[in-house]
Amino acid sequence: MNASRQDSRTMETIDGLIRNIRIATLNSQLDTDYGVIEDGCLAWNDGKILYVGPQDQSPYPSAVTTIDGDGCWLTPGLIDCHTHLVYAGNRAGEFEALRQGKSYAEIAKAGGGIRSTVTATRAADEADLFSEAAKRLQRLLAEGVTTVEIKSGYGLNRDDELKMLRVIRQLGEHFPVEVHATCLAAHAVPPEFHDDPEAYLNRVIDEILPAVAAENLATSVDVFCESIAFSADQTRRLFRAATRLGFKLKGHVEQLTQQGGTDVLCEFNALSADHIEFISEPQIGRMAEAGVTAVILPGAFYYLGEHQKPPIESLRAHQVPMAVATDQNPGSSPLSSLLTAANLACVLFGMTPAEAWSGMTRSAAQALGLGDRKGQLREGFDADLLLWDVDHPRQIIHEINRFRPQRIWQAGQERTHV
Ligand code: NIG
Ligand code: FE
Repeated sequence: MNASRQDSRTMETIDGLIRNIRIATLNSQLDTDYGVIEDGCLAWNDGKILYVGPQDQSPYPSAVTTIDGDGCWLTPGLIDCHTHLVYAGNRAGEFEALRQGKSYAEIAKAGGGIRSTVTATRAADEADLFSEAAKRLQRLLAEGVTTVEIKSGYGLNRDDELKMLRVIRQLGEHFPVEVHATCLAAHAVPPEFHDDPEAYLNRVIDEILPAVAAENLATSVDVFCESIAFSADQTRRLFRAATRLGFKLKGHVEQLTQQGGTDVLCEFNALSADHIEFISEPQIGRMAEAGVTAVILPGAFYYLGEHQKPPIESLRAHQVPMAVATDQNPGSSPLSSLLTAANLACVLFGMTPAEAWSGMTRSAAQALGLGDRKGQLREGFDADLLLWDVDHPRQIIHEINRFRPQRIWQAGQERTHV
């Protein structure tokens, strides 16, 4: 930078500056785990990062708000890229049944599982759904989640899917978090279509998705591609319609059995393939080619007592980005802690703590199509920042339920409440 340019920049009044920090940028261009900058400083204006780097090279000596970080660590805000946290009721009874040896699929076939939450959710009004979901969301926010994806999928008809998606929108308006809504109308076949799943899929394609698009209530469409839900061919049909309506695509695939959903996701260059315990080696190669992010969901594996783990080593070898998320839902993953999900991903699946950190930040942003503005502390990216009083960020996922950020900024605004 030449001297005159530097002079003009130092004259600017910028919104915020944090000095005297160690920074885990998670910047993919810095060739180290965590992308660490020691003796760092970060400046922002209008919600966007202006400078992140060594303090002695910063062009910004001060700002409207200048903060002494006192040697703490600064990280990107956390991103929970896969949740179903809007629903009514709970499934603790099913927890008993699972412990007595029933499988998730058996419970679902007997009319429990997702369908029992559908009954409760259809009966609830928007205000009830909002207040129940808010409690779960607040748990995530307290851990430093600044971006969250929330799916519908417990309405399974037009009005109740729209009701859920409106609640999801209200959560984003009410809480200091960026909310991305996904329509998961193809989550299960509702009881009234029990004998004719194709007719339900037609309903999703002809009625539900167009209504969601018309009200601009979701940016992505998701599917449960599984023996107890929808086939790969049905997924393809859904995705053709969703693509025509301008939705981005995601899928719950190869969770309990191998169904080929991953191949369909790759055909459509979807954002992410989620769960993937039963994915094959060739499918991983296809994900790498198609730029599909893997979303690792250890909460569901843990609660369902599964045995087949997602092939982390092979995903790593193919350089498929791996996100980690809670999968917060009332059945397979009643887990309202992204930091615990990160811990489980390390302990159960063998991800490294550094991978789990990129899984909650950089790769999670990619899984939502936000990789060019979130999940890394880089110039031009959103100023979603967490300040932690720890020796190193790995400590935050090492010790379960111990750490919370000292301070949180969402697009440059300090959060004063959750
Ligand atoms: O991601 N796999 C399907 N959907 C959810 C479970 C939802 C439920 O059990 O209510 C999941 O695990
Ligand atoms: Fe899920």
